[in-house]
Amino acid sequence: MAVPGLLLGLVLPLVLLVDQSAGDVFRFASYIDDYMVLQKEPSGAVIWGYSTSLAEVVVTLTQQGKPVMKKTTYVRAYSDVWMVILDPMKAGGPYELTAQQTTVNMNSTLFVHDVLFGDVWLCSGQSNMEMTVSQIFNATAELYNTAAYQSVRILSLSLVQSGKELEDIAEIDLGWSTPSAENLGHGSFTYMSAVCWLFGRSLYDNLHYPIGLISSCWGGTPIEAWSSKRPLKTCGVPWMRMGSLEFVTGPREYSVLWNAMIYPLHKMTLKGVIWYQGESNQDFNRDLYNCTFPELIDDWRQTFHFGSQRQTHRLFPFGFVQLSSYETDRTSDEKFPEIRWHQTADFGYAPNIKMPNTFMAVAMDLGDRSSPFGSIHPRDKQTVAYRLLLGALAVGYGEKLLFQGPMPEKIQFMEHEGLLILTYTQQIQVITMDTRLFMVSCCDDYECSWIPVSILTSSVQTLTLDIHYCTGTPVAVRYAWTTWPCEYKSCPLYHPTSTLPAPPFTAVFDGQNPETQLLQIQL
Ligand SMILES: *[C@@H]1O[C@H](CO)[C@@H](O)[C@H](O)[C@H]1NC(C)=O
Ligand SMILES: *[C@@H]1O[C@H](CO)[C@@H](O)[C@H](O)[C@H]1NC(C)=O
Ligand SMILES: *[C@@H]1O[C@H](CO)[C@@H](O)[C@H](O)[C@H]1NC(C)=O
Repeated sequence: MAVPGLLLGLVLPLVLLVDQSAGDVFRFASYIDDYMVLQKEPSGAVIWGYSTSLAEVVVTLTQQGKPVMKKTTYVRAYSDVWMVILDPMKAGGPYELTAQQTTVNMNSTLFVHDVLFGDVWLCSGQSNMEMTVSQIFNATAELYNTAAYQSVRILSLSLVQSGKELEDIAEIDLGWSTPSAENLGHGSFTYMSAVCWLFGRSLYDNLHYPIGLISSCWGGTPIEAWSSKRPLKTCGVPWMRMGSLEFVTGPREYSVLWNAMIYPLHKMTLKGVIWYQGESNQDFNRDLYNCTFPELIDDWRQTFHFGSQRQTHRLFPFGFVQLSSYETDRTSDEKFPEIRWHQTADFGYAPNIKMPNTFMAVAMDLGDRSSPFGSIHPRDKQTVAYRLLLGALAVGYGEKLLFQGPMPEKIQFMEHEGLLILTYTQQIQVITMDTRLFMVSCCDDYECSWIPVSILTSSVQTLTLDIHYCTGTPVAVRYAWTTWPCEYKSCPLYHPTSTLPAPPFTAVFDGQNPETQLLQIQL
Protein backbone atom coordinates (compact mmCIF):
# COMPACT_ATOMS: atom_id res chain seq x y z
CA MET A 1 0.00 0.00 0.00
CA ALA A 2 2.96 2.26 0.44
CA VAL A 3 3.85 2.01 -3.21
CA PRO A 4 1.40 4.58 -4.71
CA GLY A 5 2.44 7.13 -2.12
CA LEU A 6 6.04 6.54 -2.93
CA LEU A 7 5.36 6.84 -6.65
CA LEU A 8 3.44 10.06 -6.14
CA GLY A 9 6.28 11.45 -4.12
CA LEU A 10 8.61 10.70 -6.97
CA VAL A 11 6.41 11.83 -9.79
CA LEU A 12 5.38 15.22 -8.42
CA PRO A 13 8.80 16.80 -8.23
CA LEU A 14 9.49 15.47 -11.72
CA VAL A 15 6.43 17.20 -13.11
CA LEU A 16 7.44 20.41 -11.38
CA LEU A 17 10.91 20.10 -12.80
CA VAL A 18 9.60 19.70 -16.33
CA ASP A 19 7.29 22.68 -15.96
CA GLN A 20 9.99 24.91 -14.61
CA SER A 21 12.25 24.14 -17.53
CA ALA A 22 9.51 24.44 -20.14
CA GLY A 23 10.58 27.92 -21.15
CA ASP A 24 14.17 26.78 -21.69
CA VAL A 25 13.15 23.88 -23.83
CA PHE A 26 11.32 26.11 -26.27
CA ARG A 27 13.69 27.03 -29.09
CA PHE A 28 14.25 26.96 -32.81
CA ALA A 29 16.56 24.41 -34.38
CA SER A 30 20.02 25.88 -33.93
CA TYR A 31 20.46 26.86 -37.57
CA ILE A 32 17.24 28.89 -37.60
CA ASP A 33 18.59 32.28 -36.71
CA ASP A 34 18.86 35.97 -37.57
CA TYR A 35 20.07 36.69 -41.14
CA MET A 36 19.16 33.27 -42.43
CA VAL A 37 17.92 32.49 -45.91
CA LEU A 38 14.89 30.22 -46.21
CA GLN A 39 14.17 28.28 -49.38
CA LYS A 40 11.82 30.17 -51.70
CA GLU A 41 9.00 28.88 -53.91
CA PRO A 42 8.00 26.48 -55.36
CA SER A 43 8.97 24.68 -52.12
CA GLY A 44 7.80 25.63 -48.67
CA ALA A 45 10.44 26.35 -46.05
CA VAL A 46 10.45 24.05 -43.04
CA ILE A 47 10.62 25.73 -39.62
CA TRP A 48 11.15 23.51 -36.62
CA GLY A 49 12.39 23.48 -33.08
CA TYR A 50 11.96 22.06 -29.61
CA SER A 51 9.21 22.49 -27.05
CA THR A 52 7.48 20.66 -24.24
CA SER A 53 5.07 17.98 -25.32
CA LEU A 54 1.42 18.95 -25.82
CA ALA A 55 2.25 22.64 -26.30
CA GLU A 56 0.67 24.69 -29.05
CA VAL A 57 3.19 26.46 -31.26
CA VAL A 58 2.21 29.29 -33.58
CA VAL A 59 4.74 30.42 -36.17
CA THR A 60 4.14 33.85 -37.66
CA LEU A 61 5.94 35.48 -40.53
CA THR A 62 5.77 39.25 -40.43
CA GLN A 63 7.02 41.99 -42.68
CA GLN A 64 7.45 45.46 -41.24
CA GLY A 65 5.29 44.49 -38.29
CA LYS A 66 2.44 43.10 -40.42
CA PRO A 67 1.71 39.38 -40.18
CA VAL A 68 1.77 37.78 -43.61
CA MET A 69 1.42 34.14 -42.62
CA LYS A 70 0.51 32.11 -39.55
CA LYS A 71 1.00 28.37 -39.02
CA THR A 72 -0.17 26.48 -35.95
CA THR A 73 1.02 23.10 -34.76
CA TYR A 74 0.70 20.99 -31.62
CA VAL A 75 3.53 19.07 -30.07
CA ARG A 76 2.53 15.44 -29.66
CA ALA A 77 2.68 13.60 -26.38
CA TYR A 78 6.10 12.11 -25.70
CA SER A 79 7.63 14.40 -28.33
CA ASP A 80 9.66 17.54 -27.94
CA VAL A 81 9.87 18.55 -31.58
CA TRP A 82 7.56 20.86 -33.49
CA MET A 83 7.60 21.59 -37.21
CA VAL A 84 5.63 23.74 -39.63
CA ILE A 85 5.91 24.18 -43.37
CA LEU A 86 5.49 27.72 -44.61
CA ASP A 87 3.53 28.42 -47.75
CA PRO A 88 5.84 28.86 -50.75
CA MET A 89 7.22 32.39 -50.72
CA LYS A 90 8.56 34.57 -53.49
CA ALA A 91 12.20 35.54 -53.25
CA GLY A 92 12.84 38.62 -51.14
CA GLY A 93 12.60 40.05 -47.65
CA PRO A 94 13.46 40.93 -45.00
CA TYR A 95 10.90 39.19 -42.78
CA GLU A 96 10.69 38.45 -39.11
CA LEU A 97 9.81 35.04 -37.82
CA THR A 98 8.17 34.51 -34.46
CA ALA A 99 7.27 31.29 -32.75
CA GLN A 100 4.87 31.43 -29.84
CA GLN A 101 4.46 28.55 -27.45
CA THR A 102 1.37 28.13 -25.31
CA THR A 103 1.18 25.52 -22.57
CA VAL A 104 -1.22 25.21 -19.66
CA ASN A 105 0.67 27.57 -17.45
CA MET A 106 3.10 29.55 -19.51
CA ASN A 107 3.56 31.33 -22.81
CA SER A 108 6.79 32.27 -24.47
CA THR A 109 7.84 33.78 -27.77
CA LEU A 110 10.96 33.49 -29.92
CA PHE A 111 12.06 35.99 -32.54
CA VAL A 112 14.29 35.71 -35.57
CA HIS A 113 14.83 38.81 -37.65
CA ASP A 114 16.14 39.78 -41.08
CA VAL A 115 15.10 36.55 -42.78
CA LEU A 116 15.24 36.39 -46.58
CA PHE A 117 13.69 33.96 -49.03
CA GLY A 118 15.92 32.69 -51.82
CA ASP A 119 17.84 29.55 -52.76
CA VAL A 120 19.72 27.58 -50.13
CA TRP A 121 22.79 25.59 -51.18
CA LEU A 122 24.77 23.20 -49.00
CA CYS A 123 28.52 22.91 -49.66
CA SER A 124 30.39 19.87 -48.42
CA GLY A 125 33.56 17.84 -48.88
CA GLN A 126 37.14 17.94 -47.70
CA SER A 127 39.94 20.51 -47.60
CA ASN A 128 39.51 21.90 -51.10
CA MET A 129 35.98 22.87 -50.10
CA GLU A 130 37.20 24.04 -46.71
CA MET A 131 39.84 26.45 -48.09
CA THR A 132 38.82 30.00 -47.32
CA VAL A 133 38.81 33.08 -49.51
CA SER A 134 42.00 34.31 -47.81
CA GLN A 135 43.84 31.25 -49.20
CA ILE A 136 42.98 31.67 -52.88
CA PHE A 137 44.44 33.76 -55.73
CA ASN A 138 43.55 37.47 -55.62
CA ALA A 139 42.33 37.08 -52.04
CA THR A 140 42.47 40.80 -51.25
CA ALA A 141 40.41 41.72 -54.29
CA GLU A 142 37.91 38.92 -53.65
CA LEU A 143 37.39 40.06 -50.06
CA TYR A 144 37.03 43.68 -50.99
CA ASN A 145 33.62 43.85 -52.56
CA THR A 146 31.31 42.23 -50.02
CA ALA A 147 29.00 45.23 -49.59
CA ALA A 148 27.30 44.42 -52.89
CA TYR A 149 26.43 40.92 -51.65
CA GLN A 150 24.49 41.53 -48.45
CA SER A 151 21.70 39.28 -49.75
CA VAL A 152 24.10 36.35 -49.92
CA ARG A 153 24.12 34.91 -46.41
CA ILE A 154 26.60 32.43 -45.02
CA LEU A 155 26.61 29.77 -42.30
CA SER A 156 29.57 27.58 -41.43
CA LEU A 157 29.29 24.48 -39.25
CA SER A 158 31.93 23.39 -36.76
CA LEU A 159 33.89 20.18 -37.12
CA VAL A 160 31.89 17.70 -35.11
CA GLN A 161 31.65 13.94 -35.31
CA SER A 162 29.15 11.59 -33.79
CA GLY A 163 28.55 7.88 -33.51
CA LYS A 164 24.83 8.34 -34.04
CA GLU A 165 22.61 10.62 -36.09
CA LEU A 166 22.11 13.97 -34.32
CA GLU A 167 18.75 15.69 -34.64
CA ASP A 168 20.20 19.21 -34.37
CA ILE A 169 23.53 20.86 -35.15
CA ALA A 170 25.76 20.56 -32.09
CA GLU A 171 28.11 23.43 -32.86
CA ILE A 172 28.38 26.28 -35.35
CA ASP A 173 31.58 28.19 -36.20
CA LEU A 174 29.87 31.06 -37.95
CA GLY A 175 26.16 31.59 -37.43
CA TRP A 176 24.07 33.02 -40.30
CA SER A 177 25.83 36.23 -41.29
CA THR A 178 26.05 38.82 -43.97
CA PRO A 179 29.41 38.52 -45.73
CA SER A 180 32.38 40.63 -44.67
CA ALA A 181 36.11 40.54 -45.30
CA GLU A 182 36.54 39.24 -41.73
CA ASN A 183 34.13 36.34 -41.82
CA LEU A 184 34.92 35.26 -45.38
CA GLY A 185 38.66 35.29 -44.92
CA HIS A 186 38.73 34.17 -41.34
CA GLY A 187 41.85 31.99 -41.56
CA SER A 188 43.12 28.89 -43.27
CA PHE A 189 40.77 25.93 -43.59
CA THR A 190 38.21 27.40 -41.21
CA TYR A 191 35.43 29.54 -42.63
CA MET A 192 34.09 30.53 -45.03
CA SER A 193 34.53 28.00 -47.86
CA ALA A 194 35.87 29.90 -50.87
CA VAL A 195 34.30 27.58 -53.45
CA CYS A 196 30.96 27.85 -51.67
CA TRP A 197 31.17 31.64 -51.42
CA LEU A 198 32.32 32.22 -55.02
CA PHE A 199 29.66 29.85 -56.31
CA GLY A 200 26.90 31.54 -54.30
CA ARG A 201 28.10 35.00 -55.21
CA SER A 202 28.03 34.20 -58.91
CA LEU A 203 24.58 32.62 -58.55
CA TYR A 204 23.43 35.89 -57.02
CA ASP A 205 24.94 37.85 -59.92
CA ASN A 206 22.87 35.71 -62.28
CA LEU A 207 19.62 35.34 -60.36
CA HIS A 208 19.47 38.67 -58.48
CA TYR A 209 17.72 37.25 -55.44
CA PRO A 210 18.95 36.04 -52.02
CA ILE A 211 21.23 33.02 -51.75
CA GLY A 212 21.89 31.08 -48.53
CA LEU A 213 25.16 29.17 -48.29
CA ILE A 214 25.89 26.49 -45.72
CA SER A 215 29.42 25.21 -45.43
CA SER A 216 29.87 21.80 -43.82
CA CYS A 217 33.23 20.27 -44.69
CA TRP A 218 36.29 18.70 -43.08
CA GLY A 219 39.76 18.26 -44.56
CA GLY A 220 41.27 14.82 -45.06
CA THR A 221 38.02 12.93 -44.80
CA PRO A 222 36.93 9.99 -46.99
CA ILE A 223 33.46 9.67 -48.48
CA GLU A 224 32.62 6.91 -45.99
CA ALA A 225 32.60 9.47 -43.14
CA TRP A 226 29.91 11.48 -44.99
CA SER A 227 27.75 8.44 -45.80
CA SER A 228 24.93 6.95 -43.83
CA LYS A 229 24.97 3.18 -43.36
CA ARG A 230 22.73 2.61 -46.37
CA PRO A 231 25.15 3.49 -49.21
CA LEU A 232 28.01 1.76 -47.39
CA LYS A 233 25.95 -1.41 -47.25
CA THR A 234 24.69 -1.14 -50.82
CA CYS A 235 28.26 -0.79 -52.09
CA GLY A 236 29.66 -3.57 -49.91
CA VAL A 237 32.16 -1.29 -48.24
CA PRO A 238 34.25 -3.52 -45.99
CA TRP A 239 33.49 -2.81 -42.36
CA MET A 240 36.80 -1.82 -40.86
CA ARG A 241 38.71 1.12 -39.53
CA MET A 242 41.14 3.01 -41.71
CA GLY A 243 44.63 1.73 -42.26
CA SER A 244 47.54 4.04 -42.90
CA LEU A 245 46.61 7.05 -44.97
CA GLU A 246 48.62 9.86 -46.43
CA PHE A 247 46.21 12.46 -45.13
CA VAL A 248 46.08 12.28 -41.41
CA THR A 249 43.77 15.08 -40.35
CA GLY A 250 40.09 14.72 -39.73
CA PRO A 251 37.98 11.87 -38.54
CA ARG A 252 37.66 9.01 -40.92
CA GLU A 253 35.33 6.62 -39.25
CA TYR A 254 32.30 5.60 -41.21
CA SER A 255 29.23 7.84 -40.97
CA VAL A 256 30.55 10.12 -38.22
CA LEU A 257 30.30 13.30 -40.29
CA TRP A 258 27.03 12.29 -41.86
CA ASN A 259 25.73 11.88 -38.31
CA ALA A 260 26.91 15.23 -36.96
CA MET A 261 27.32 17.59 -39.92
CA ILE A 262 24.76 16.56 -42.56
CA TYR A 263 21.89 14.62 -41.02
CA PRO A 264 20.98 17.47 -38.60
CA LEU A 265 20.18 19.60 -41.68
CA HIS A 266 17.87 17.07 -43.27
CA LYS A 267 14.63 18.76 -42.25
CA MET A 268 15.73 21.99 -43.92
CA THR A 269 14.34 22.83 -47.34
CA LEU A 270 17.27 23.06 -49.75
CA LYS A 271 17.77 23.99 -53.37
CA GLY A 272 20.88 21.89 -53.95
CA VAL A 273 24.30 20.66 -52.91
CA ILE A 274 27.85 21.16 -54.16
CA TRP A 275 30.61 18.72 -53.22
CA TYR A 276 34.40 18.73 -53.48
CA GLN A 277 35.83 15.48 -52.14
CA GLY A 278 37.73 12.40 -53.29
CA GLU A 279 41.41 13.02 -52.60
CA SER A 280 41.18 10.97 -49.39
CA ASN A 281 39.76 8.02 -51.26
CA GLN A 282 42.71 7.58 -53.60
CA ASP A 283 44.13 5.03 -51.16
CA PHE A 284 40.95 4.00 -49.49
CA ASN A 285 38.13 2.04 -51.14
CA ARG A 286 39.06 3.69 -54.42
CA ASP A 287 37.55 0.90 -56.52
CA LEU A 288 34.22 1.39 -54.76
CA TYR A 289 33.97 5.13 -55.39
CA ASN A 290 31.95 4.54 -58.57
CA CYS A 291 29.31 3.13 -56.22
CA THR A 292 29.81 5.05 -52.97
CA PHE A 293 29.53 8.45 -54.66
CA PRO A 294 26.35 7.91 -56.72
CA GLU A 295 24.82 6.09 -53.74
CA LEU A 296 25.71 8.95 -51.38
CA ILE A 297 23.99 11.38 -53.73
CA ASP A 298 20.89 9.23 -53.83
CA ASP A 299 20.89 8.72 -50.07
CA TRP A 300 21.28 12.43 -49.29
CA ARG A 301 18.48 13.22 -51.73
CA GLN A 302 16.18 10.66 -50.20
CA THR A 303 16.91 11.75 -46.61
CA PHE A 304 16.52 15.47 -47.35
CA HIS A 305 13.38 14.91 -49.39
CA PHE A 306 11.54 12.97 -46.71
CA GLY A 307 13.12 14.91 -43.82
CA SER A 308 11.66 18.14 -45.22
CA GLN A 309 8.21 16.56 -45.72
CA ARG A 310 8.96 16.42 -49.47
CA GLN A 311 9.75 20.12 -49.75
CA THR A 312 13.34 19.52 -50.88
CA HIS A 313 13.14 18.07 -54.38
CA ARG A 314 13.70 14.32 -54.58
CA LEU A 315 16.29 14.84 -57.34
CA PHE A 316 17.69 18.16 -56.20
CA PRO A 317 20.67 19.41 -58.25
CA PHE A 318 23.97 18.00 -57.00
CA GLY A 319 27.17 19.52 -58.35
CA PHE A 320 30.69 18.30 -57.76
CA VAL A 321 34.27 19.17 -58.57
CA GLN A 322 36.27 16.54 -60.38
CA LEU A 323 39.68 16.20 -58.72
CA SER A 324 42.32 18.68 -59.74
CA SER A 325 46.01 17.85 -60.18
CA TYR A 326 48.78 17.55 -57.63
CA GLU A 327 52.45 16.65 -57.65
CA THR A 328 53.23 13.13 -56.62
CA ASP A 329 56.29 10.94 -56.73
CA ARG A 330 54.29 7.78 -56.67
CA THR A 331 55.12 5.05 -59.08
CA SER A 332 51.48 4.37 -59.82
CA ASP A 333 49.87 7.31 -61.53
CA GLU A 334 46.42 5.78 -61.84
CA LYS A 335 44.88 6.78 -58.55
CA PHE A 336 43.65 10.29 -59.30
CA PRO A 337 42.53 9.34 -62.83
CA GLU A 338 40.51 6.46 -61.40
CA ILE A 339 38.85 8.64 -58.77
CA ARG A 340 38.07 11.25 -61.44
CA TRP A 341 36.47 8.56 -63.57
CA HIS A 342 34.59 7.03 -60.63
CA GLN A 343 33.30 10.50 -59.70
CA THR A 344 31.23 10.22 -62.88
CA ALA A 345 30.14 6.64 -62.14
CA ASP A 346 32.52 5.66 -64.97
CA PHE A 347 30.67 7.63 -67.64
CA GLY A 348 33.18 10.48 -67.88
CA TYR A 349 30.49 13.16 -67.80
CA ALA A 350 27.58 14.29 -65.68
CA PRO A 351 24.65 14.11 -65.57
CA ASN A 352 24.32 10.48 -66.66
CA ILE A 353 21.80 7.71 -66.10
CA LYS A 354 23.33 6.72 -62.76
CA MET A 355 23.69 10.32 -61.64
CA PRO A 356 20.64 12.25 -62.81
CA ASN A 357 20.50 16.01 -62.21
CA THR A 358 24.18 16.22 -61.35
CA PHE A 359 26.80 18.52 -62.81
CA MET A 360 30.58 18.46 -62.78
CA ALA A 361 33.30 21.09 -62.75
CA VAL A 362 36.41 19.66 -64.39
CA ALA A 363 39.52 20.93 -62.57
CA MET A 364 42.42 18.79 -63.79
CA ASP A 365 43.82 21.80 -65.70
CA LEU A 366 44.00 24.03 -62.60
CA GLY A 367 47.09 22.50 -60.96
CA ASP A 368 49.14 24.83 -58.77
CA ARG A 369 52.69 23.64 -58.05
CA SER A 370 53.61 26.58 -55.85
CA SER A 371 50.53 26.64 -53.64
CA PRO A 372 51.72 27.48 -50.10
CA PHE A 373 49.15 24.94 -48.89
CA GLY A 374 50.68 22.14 -50.96
CA SER A 375 49.92 21.38 -54.60
CA ILE A 376 46.95 19.27 -53.45
CA HIS A 377 45.27 22.63 -52.68
CA PRO A 378 45.24 24.67 -55.90
CA ARG A 379 44.47 28.35 -55.38
CA ASP A 380 42.35 29.01 -58.45
CA LYS A 381 38.92 28.48 -56.94
CA GLN A 382 37.36 31.15 -59.16
CA THR A 383 37.47 28.91 -62.22
CA VAL A 384 36.15 25.98 -60.17
CA ALA A 385 33.22 28.10 -59.01
CA TYR A 386 32.59 29.39 -62.53
CA ARG A 387 32.42 25.87 -63.97
CA LEU A 388 30.09 24.85 -61.13
CA LEU A 389 27.94 27.88 -61.85
CA LEU A 390 27.48 26.87 -65.50
CA GLY A 391 26.37 23.40 -64.39
CA ALA A 392 24.03 24.78 -61.76
CA LEU A 393 22.40 27.20 -64.19
CA ALA A 394 21.88 24.43 -66.74
CA VAL A 395 20.89 21.54 -64.46
CA GLY A 396 19.43 23.39 -61.46
CA TYR A 397 17.76 26.32 -63.20
CA GLY A 398 16.99 24.94 -66.64
CA GLU A 399 18.98 27.51 -68.60
CA LYS A 400 20.01 26.49 -72.06
CA LEU A 401 23.73 26.92 -71.96
CA LEU A 402 26.83 24.88 -72.51
CA PHE A 403 28.19 23.48 -69.26
CA GLN A 404 30.09 20.35 -70.29
CA GLY A 405 33.38 20.11 -72.13
CA PRO A 406 33.68 17.97 -75.27
CA MET A 407 33.41 14.17 -74.94
CA PRO A 408 33.94 11.71 -77.78
CA GLU A 409 30.73 10.01 -78.84
CA LYS A 410 32.11 7.78 -81.54
CA ILE A 411 35.38 5.99 -82.22
CA GLN A 412 36.28 4.73 -85.69
CA PHE A 413 39.14 2.36 -86.15
CA MET A 414 40.73 2.44 -89.63
CA GLU A 415 42.93 -0.59 -89.53
CA HIS A 416 44.63 -0.23 -92.92
CA GLU A 417 45.46 3.42 -92.44
CA GLY A 418 46.56 2.91 -88.83
CA LEU A 419 44.21 5.63 -87.65
CA LEU A 420 41.71 6.18 -84.90
CA ILE A 421 39.08 8.85 -85.44
CA LEU A 422 37.33 10.37 -82.43
CA THR A 423 34.12 12.27 -83.08
CA TYR A 424 33.21 14.72 -80.33
CA THR A 425 29.84 15.86 -79.08
CA GLN A 426 30.71 19.48 -79.68
CA GLN A 427 33.25 21.71 -81.29
CA ILE A 428 36.79 21.26 -80.10
CA GLN A 429 39.69 23.59 -79.88
CA VAL A 430 43.09 21.95 -79.97
CA ILE A 431 45.42 23.99 -77.77
CA THR A 432 48.37 21.68 -78.18
CA MET A 433 49.05 18.57 -80.22
CA ASP A 434 50.55 17.11 -77.03
CA THR A 435 51.14 13.49 -77.78
CA ARG A 436 51.33 12.07 -74.29
CA LEU A 437 47.72 12.51 -73.27
CA PHE A 438 46.03 10.20 -75.75
CA MET A 439 46.99 6.60 -75.22
CA VAL A 440 45.97 3.39 -76.90
CA SER A 441 46.04 -0.03 -75.33
CA CYS A 442 47.73 -2.44 -77.74
CA CYS A 443 47.54 -6.16 -77.26
CA ASP A 444 49.62 -8.95 -78.63
CA ASP A 445 49.01 -12.60 -77.86
CA TYR A 446 50.39 -12.23 -74.37
CA GLU A 447 49.68 -8.82 -72.96
CA CYS A 448 48.29 -5.36 -73.49
CA SER A 449 50.13 -2.12 -72.84
CA TRP A 450 49.29 1.56 -73.06
CA ILE A 451 51.29 3.52 -75.61
CA PRO A 452 51.07 7.28 -76.23
CA VAL A 453 49.71 8.24 -79.66
CA SER A 454 49.85 11.56 -81.40
CA ILE A 455 47.13 13.74 -82.85
CA LEU A 456 47.59 13.69 -86.62
CA THR A 457 44.89 16.14 -87.65
CA SER A 458 41.87 17.83 -86.17
CA SER A 459 38.73 19.36 -87.57
CA VAL A 460 35.72 21.11 -86.04
CA GLN A 461 34.51 18.06 -84.17
CA THR A 462 36.95 15.25 -84.87
CA LEU A 463 40.44 14.21 -83.98
CA THR A 464 42.52 11.75 -85.93
CA LEU A 465 45.03 9.79 -83.88
CA ASP A 466 48.02 8.08 -85.43
CA ILE A 467 48.19 4.56 -84.06
CA HIS A 468 50.87 3.12 -86.36
CA TYR A 469 53.05 2.35 -83.38
CA CYS A 470 50.45 0.01 -82.06
CA THR A 471 51.84 -3.22 -83.44
CA GLY A 472 49.24 -5.53 -81.93
CA THR A 473 45.48 -5.07 -81.73
CA PRO A 474 44.26 -1.76 -80.34
CA VAL A 475 41.51 -2.39 -77.79
CA ALA A 476 41.08 0.80 -75.83
CA VAL A 477 41.82 4.49 -75.87
CA ARG A 478 42.11 6.98 -73.03
CA TYR A 479 42.75 10.66 -72.52
CA ALA A 480 44.41 12.64 -69.72
CA TRP A 481 44.87 9.56 -67.57
CA THR A 482 47.55 10.91 -65.26
CA THR A 483 47.56 12.74 -61.95
CA TRP A 484 48.90 15.92 -63.53
CA PRO A 485 47.79 15.89 -67.18
CA CYS A 486 48.65 19.43 -68.18
CA GLU A 487 49.85 22.83 -67.04
CA TYR A 488 47.51 25.61 -65.93
CA LYS A 489 44.62 25.94 -68.40
CA SER A 490 46.75 24.25 -71.06
CA CYS A 491 45.24 20.85 -71.62
CA PRO A 492 45.18 19.78 -75.27
CA LEU A 493 41.40 20.06 -75.73
CA TYR A 494 38.79 22.66 -74.84
CA HIS A 495 35.51 23.86 -76.20
CA PRO A 496 36.40 27.00 -78.16
CA THR A 497 34.07 29.65 -76.72
CA SER A 498 33.13 28.33 -73.28
CA THR A 499 36.77 27.36 -72.57
CA LEU A 500 35.50 24.25 -70.82
CA PRO A 501 38.13 21.48 -70.85
CA ALA A 502 37.46 18.08 -72.36
CA PRO A 503 37.13 15.74 -69.37
CA PRO A 504 39.36 12.66 -69.08
CA PHE A 505 37.91 9.43 -70.48
CA THR A 506 38.75 5.82 -71.10
CA ALA A 507 36.90 3.64 -73.57
CA VAL A 508 37.20 0.06 -74.65
CA PHE A 509 36.36 -0.54 -78.26
CA ASP A 510 35.78 -3.53 -80.37
CA GLY A 511 38.87 -3.98 -82.51
CA GLN A 512 36.85 -6.12 -84.93
CA ASN A 513 34.04 -3.60 -85.23
CA PRO A 514 35.27 -0.51 -87.05
CA GLU A 515 32.87 1.83 -85.27
CA THR A 516 32.08 2.11 -81.57
CA GLN A 517 29.30 4.30 -80.25
CA LEU A 518 30.48 5.58 -76.94
CA LEU A 519 27.83 7.57 -75.23
CA GLN A 520 24.75 9.65 -75.34
CA ILE A 521 25.08 13.05 -73.80
CA GLN A 522 22.00 14.10 -71.90
CA LEU A 523 20.75 17.69 -72.09
C1 LIG B 1 -1.14 32.52 -22.97
O1 LIG B 1 -1.67 33.18 -24.10
C2 LIG B 1 -3.04 32.93 -24.32
C3 LIG B 1 -3.45 33.52 -25.64
O2 LIG B 1 -2.64 34.62 -26.01
C4 LIG B 1 -3.86 33.48 -23.14
O3 LIG B 1 -5.23 33.23 -23.31
C5 LIG B 1 -3.38 32.84 -21.86
O4 LIG B 1 -4.03 33.42 -20.74
C6 LIG B 1 -1.85 32.95 -21.70
N1 LIG B 1 -1.43 32.13 -20.58
C7 LIG B 1 -0.54 32.51 -19.68
C8 LIG B 1 -0.24 31.54 -18.58
O5 LIG B 1 0.01 33.59 -19.70
C1 LIG C 1 33.78 0.21 -60.27
O1 LIG C 1 35.11 0.17 -60.71
C2 LIG C 1 35.77 -1.06 -60.48
C3 LIG C 1 37.20 -0.92 -60.92
O2 LIG C 1 37.81 0.19 -60.33
C4 LIG C 1 35.06 -2.16 -61.24
O3 LIG C 1 35.68 -3.40 -60.96
C5 LIG C 1 33.60 -2.20 -60.85
O4 LIG C 1 32.91 -3.11 -61.66
C6 LIG C 1 32.95 -0.84 -60.98
N1 LIG C 1 31.63 -0.89 -60.37
C7 LIG C 1 30.57 -0.29 -60.87
C8 LIG C 1 29.32 -0.37 -60.08
O5 LIG C 1 30.60 0.29 -61.96
C1 LIG D 1 43.34 37.53 -60.52
O1 LIG D 1 43.21 38.85 -60.98
C2 LIG D 1 43.78 39.10 -62.26
C3 LIG D 1 43.68 40.60 -62.52
O2 LIG D 1 42.36 41.02 -62.40
C4 LIG D 1 43.03 38.28 -63.29
O3 LIG D 1 43.59 38.46 -64.56
C5 LIG D 1 43.12 36.82 -62.91
O4 LIG D 1 42.34 36.03 -63.79
C6 LIG D 1 42.62 36.59 -61.50
N1 LIG D 1 42.82 35.21 -61.11
C7 LIG D 1 41.83 34.39 -60.82
C8 LIG D 1 42.21 32.99 -60.48
O5 LIG D 1 40.68 34.72 -60.82
